[in-house]
Amino acid sequence: MCGIVGYVGPQDSLGVVLEGLRRLEYRGYDSAGVAVLADGQLSTAKKAGKLANLEKQLAEADLPAATIGIGHTRWATHGGPTDRNAHPHVSADGRVAVVHNGIIENFVPLRAEVEATGVEFTSETDTEVVAHLLTATYRALPAGPDRLAEAMRAVSRRLEGAFTLVATHADEPDTIVASRRNSPLVVGVGDGEYFLGSDVAAFIGHTRNALELGQDQVVEIDRTRGATVTDFSGNRVEPTAYTVDWDAAAAEKGGYPWFMLKEIAEQPRAVADTLLGRLGESGELVLDEVRLSDQELRDIDKIFVVACGTAFHAGLLAKYAIEHWTRIPVEVEVASEFRYRDPVLDRSTLVVVISQSGETMDSLMALRHARDQKARVLAICNANGSTIPRESDAVLYTHAGPEVAVASTKGFLTQVVACYLVGLFLAQVRGVKYADEIAAIVDDLRALPDAVARVLEQMEPVRELGRSLADANTILFLGRHVGFPVALEGALKLKELAYIHAEGFAAGELKHGPIAVIDQGTPVVVIVPSPRTRESVHGKVVSNIQEVRARGARTIVIAEDGDDDVLPFADHVIRVPRTPTLLAPVVTTVPLQVLACEIADTRGLDVDQPRNLAKSVTVE
Ligand code: AGP
Repeated sequence: MCGIVGYVGPQDSLGVVLEGLRRLEYRGYDSAGVAVLADGQLSTAKKAGKLANLEKQLAEADLPAATIGIGHTRWATHGGPTDRNAHPHVSADGRVAVVHNGIIENFVPLRAEVEATGVEFTSETDTEVVAHLLTATYRALPAGPDRLAEAMRAVSRRLEGAFTLVATHADEPDTIVASRRNSPLVVGVGDGEYFLGSDVAAFIGHTRNALELGQDQVVEIDRTRGATVTDFSGNRVEPTAYTVDWDAAAAEKGGYPWFMLKEIAEQPRAVADTLLGRLGESGELVLDEVRLSDQELRDIDKIFVVACGTAFHAGLLAKYAIEHWTRIPVEVEVASEFRYRDPVLDRSTLVVVISQSGETMDSLMALRHARDQKARVLAICNANGSTIPRESDAVLYTHAGPEVAVASTKGFLTQVVACYLVGLFLAQVRGVKYADEIAAIVDDLRALPDAVARVLEQMEPVRELGRSLADANTILFLGRHVGFPVALEGALKLKELAYIHAEGFAAGELKHGPIAVIDQGTPVVVIVPSPRTRESVHGKVVSNIQEVRARGARTIVIAEDGDDDVLPFADHVIRVPRTPTLLAPVVTTVPLQVLACEIADTRGLDVDQPRNLAKSVTVE
């Protein structure tokens, strides 16, 4: 959601900024713009729509050569996705250009204050007010080496809400400044050059050395003095330096038509990387990075799993595994609801926040609420150095590598695997499972990457099926037990990629209402549990297939190898390898990802960047 890029160094800034924006496209946007500074003048270009529109405008505008610049991809919140609402926003005197990610909640009174001075606004955004405030504040300050940074600090102190702001001033040929509260920003440190980015993808082609910016901090990037970080009061802060372990190649498509397809294909490796170093030689769990003491883990009497979207579905699966292995009660909740319900939390509550990006605002706010209530917070996260792990007591990184497609695939699978690791680790530390029981599950986990690879080898019939479903108006997904969250995830993938109405149901709920929507030919995807699943769940799901088929449904059945009970009632069978019940979602989800991708592609849609969606949702 909104991508920000900044550059100061010897290279052509426009090229560097555009390349950064291209790499941030996956975050989701509906307009884009740039500003460069040369010869004491700011030049801007901005355009609604994709980057190609901006590039076309730039080809005609012929911006001057410059070595300092900022850029932005905007996901509209305040004001529609139009040319004039696109960033950068420039002050009335033309001296300041600003880009922004987030929402300035008190922009209405601030705007009224600025308008009272005679300034006319040219956009409907909350951001423009910052450009006007910055120019006025800068003008009122004495000349000095950190005048622009001081102006940014003064303005930031007045803002409420979430923001990453990056600004340039026409009188400061060697400086850009940025400010951060609740929205992401990282600094890239190259050889005599500096980058700013919403995430490291913005500059990964140039450097892997990065600085983390904390909450309520301002960074001044000066061509000769380098990066100086202060809090909003001007106190110097030593930023944490880190090396990015992704490389540029990992963020490229690698020959696949869509990032999503590449990321689906990477899942065996991603799952293996999540497990890497965490399964001990003797079948024990080794989670050294979980910075909670054994005593703290033993004291836990309740677990909440909090997340959004696909990560929430991973959380639903965590409940089955963690409760079964540890006998600790687990509640799972969408992050946007969590804190408004006043959940009962205390020191002996573990809150597990799952987030691929580590920047989802709803999840971050839930995390802060949990910490305020003294709960312990463990993050399961993919993006290194992002806000959610930084603010958590402990973190388990999924190591899935960069996930660029908006629709999460390897992010999801690795979150599920990380949840298994947490559950088993708790069982080990609390001594509720014998070592040989844990070792047996560890062996099952070790087999997962191969099982996922085998699913991927058999996807051609699924693609063919997807092509035949491209005109469907609605597709239903049914599952029981761990198949239920998989059904929810399959429906979400289809909605977000193919814009087809889809719903996931607990198969047992069918007769309580949803069965009424089944009509002649309605496609129904059923995730069938293993025949070895306890309490004849398998038999009940097979009955559910018969029930929908009797009402005209076209049944698409995902069943494990050798399960022939489904054959008489299935119009299509998708086979997955035999996998232990609790781990089965890691294999049954994969065909649903492929199916959604193929349907979207057949419908001629942008698989990687579906309409209206952003990769990381950094506003509440
Ligand atoms: C997944 O396909 C989605 N696009 C979305 O639901 C996502 O999982 C959700 O926004 C949470 O993101 P996070 O994992 O980065 O917190």
